[in-house]
Amino acid sequence: TQSGPTIFFIFGGTGDLTSRKLIPALYNLFLEGWMPENFQIVAMGRTQFTDEKFRGELLTDVNKFSRSGEAKQWDSFSQHIHFHVSDVQDPKTYKEMYERVQSFAQVAGTEPNVIFYLAVAPRFFATIAENLAAYKLTANPTKSRIVFEKPFGHDLESAKELNKLLSGIFTEKQIYRIDHYLGKETVQNILAFRFANSILEPIWNRNYIEHVQISVTEQLGVGDRGGYYDDSGALRDMVQNHILQLLCLVAMEAPVNFGADDVRNRKVDVLNSMRKFSPEDVQKNAVRGQYSKGWMQGQEVPGYREEKGVKKESNTETFAAIKFFIDNWRWHGVPFYLRTGKRMHQSSSVITIQFKDVPHQIFPTGSSEGWQQNKLIISIQPEMSIRLKMQAKRPGLDMILNPVDMIFDYKGTYTTETPEAYETLLLDTMLGDQTHFMRGDQVEAAWELLMPIINAWATKKSTSFPNYSADSWGPESADALLARDGFHWFTLPQTSKPKH
Ligand code: BG6
Repeated sequence: TQSGPTIFFIFGGTGDLTSRKLIPALYNLFLEGWMPENFQIVAMGRTQFTDEKFRGELLTDVNKFSRSGEAKQWDSFSQHIHFHVSDVQDPKTYKEMYERVQSFAQVAGTEPNVIFYLAVAPRFFATIAENLAAYKLTANPTKSRIVFEKPFGHDLESAKELNKLLSGIFTEKQIYRIDHYLGKETVQNILAFRFANSILEPIWNRNYIEHVQISVTEQLGVGDRGGYYDDSGALRDMVQNHILQLLCLVAMEAPVNFGADDVRNRKVDVLNSMRKFSPEDVQKNAVRGQYSKGWMQGQEVPGYREEKGVKKESNTETFAAIKFFIDNWRWHGVPFYLRTGKRMHQSSSVITIQFKDVPHQIFPTGSSEGWQQNKLIISIQPEMSIRLKMQAKRPGLDMILNPVDMIFDYKGTYTTETPEAYETLLLDTMLGDQTHFMRGDQVEAAWELLMPIINAWATKKSTSFPNYSADSWGPESADALLARDGFHWFTLPQTSKPKH
């Protein structure tokens, strides 16, 4: 499906996101025939670029970041890209945008979809939204859409304020809050896997599942994003959005339909049923960490407090591990352990569903090599796979059991290329499909859940930071969080080349 004529404004047109993600994604959509016949991409920014100069600047990144590798049809694609020298604070900008839309509509012969993509710092969100409304750019609720990059709010209060402001200007159907994890192929497959197969549902509950782990670890440090990160930390940067969204996909009830609101209703139910943290719970069930300098694959890397833009005495967590409970019938008593961190030993995002052990052991002691309870392992990246860990008899004359994997591996199963998250989400935006975007109430519910932890950590400085070294699995207390319950973090063997 293609959308009708579309004009796509990108605020933050000269930013990193535009050149590394948005333009390459739109270009791939173009190469594969998903872009509408008639479209214009208008990058907004203060730099005095001509269209020509700006297109030239983009080409290097398109070569680097687009899936097709070489810029095959760049010339015809880039004719659709324009640079609009502008200042978001200046009303003239919006007047000119309005004129642009009018002349595009004339050429297209119909009222186009108008998309505003806010790839700018959140402090500009309100100004832009208000001006768009003032200049009648959002007048048609079925045609105009606004897309927000995270962070959506800095805490519950600011998220509520922003939602309130936006709801005075837009209908919820016009608002697209991006969580790029929801555009990942393997993440979208969680819903397919759970709700297009009948064998999982009967065992997908407290009777069979012992615990769930969601682990999203990265080898990268904060790099040149220290300024942003130091005000955020792992809870705001990863848990509030990506990781809680993953948890919702694992834990949600079946939606009545695959409609955007059907799916999002069931997800918000999960967030609303999660147990809120008391100060004692924070103490007991939430662990934070900060990385110190060290070595990663033979290269020396700085500690968090030495990174550019980070305060020397920073108390910001670069690692978090939390034990959550979902207080509903399905999940009563099943712990959900989440962890995420920077400068960790592996870059991998893996969800592990661990099933209860067999009720009675019939095999003699000594007949097993590394007994493992059944696990369903959903590997989101870098390996894209779903494995079911089973016990099996090792071939031989004696009865020896060992764990084996039944594997669904994308690489082995499909030859088609996997689209980038942004491709999927930008196409959804053009088509008006909000299923894989965060609704306002979800965002607020996620903040509400985390606020007790965020507040407790902000008021009580950690005296032990830094407390894990680069290239480790985080602080020891994160292992203890599981060990206390008789579990340990599950990791897949590393398959891809590590990044620095
Ligand atoms: C972003 C965070 O939202 O997600 C980054 O701000 C993080 O800190 C990134 O590195 C991880 O995304 P991915 O797709 O590389 O797992």
